[in-house]
Amino acid sequence: MKFFHKLQILFLSIVVLLSVIITMLLIYPDQLQPKEPEIFYCGNALRANGENHIAGERLFKDNCKSCHRIHQDAVGPALSGVTKRRSKEWLYAFIEDPQAMIKKRDTAAVNLYMKYNKFEMMSFKTLSTADIDSILVYIELSDL
Ligand code: HEC
Repeated sequence: MKFFHKLQILFLSIVVLLSVIITMLLIYPDQLQPKEPEIFYCGNALRANGENHIAGERLFKDNCKSCHRIHQDAVGPALSGVTKRRSKEWLYAFIEDPQAMIKKRDTAAVNLYMKYNKFEMMSFKTLSTADIDSILVYIELSDL
């Protein structure tokens, strides 16, 4: 009889413990999600969500991959680390209209133009800044 009493107490404690754990999990479900890495993009912490990354990869493949690789020079320079060497404003302006930057005598743009055999990168005026952001996130994630 005493043995069964002990068993009952043990069983009850397990039930109580389990209900506490389940309640905690229901209250703090976020704790269960793995933390996404923070991407430091042009000085701003930018939370790269999956969608951004996938959209960026698609845009990169459709528009940039014919001339750019991430880690090797091709027709254009390797884009690895580009968000560290250039400001966000410069990247928006350059990707939207590289020729205009060369005409304005922007030092970095002119130097690149000379280095890459005076090959002019085409302009991408149809890409929104959000599109460019997702391409940059894709480039940064490829560097992790
Ligand atoms: C037709 C070839 C071509 C395509 C397509 C192209 N680029 Fe370029 N890109 C170049 C060349 C060549 C340069 C070097 C600068 C120059 O010659 O004007 C360059 C330079 C750059 C730079 C400056 C790199 C640095 O080191 O500062 C960035 C950023 C860039 N491209 C992004 C893009 C993105 C993003 C796309 C797609 C939306 C793209 N490029 C598509 C040829 C291309």
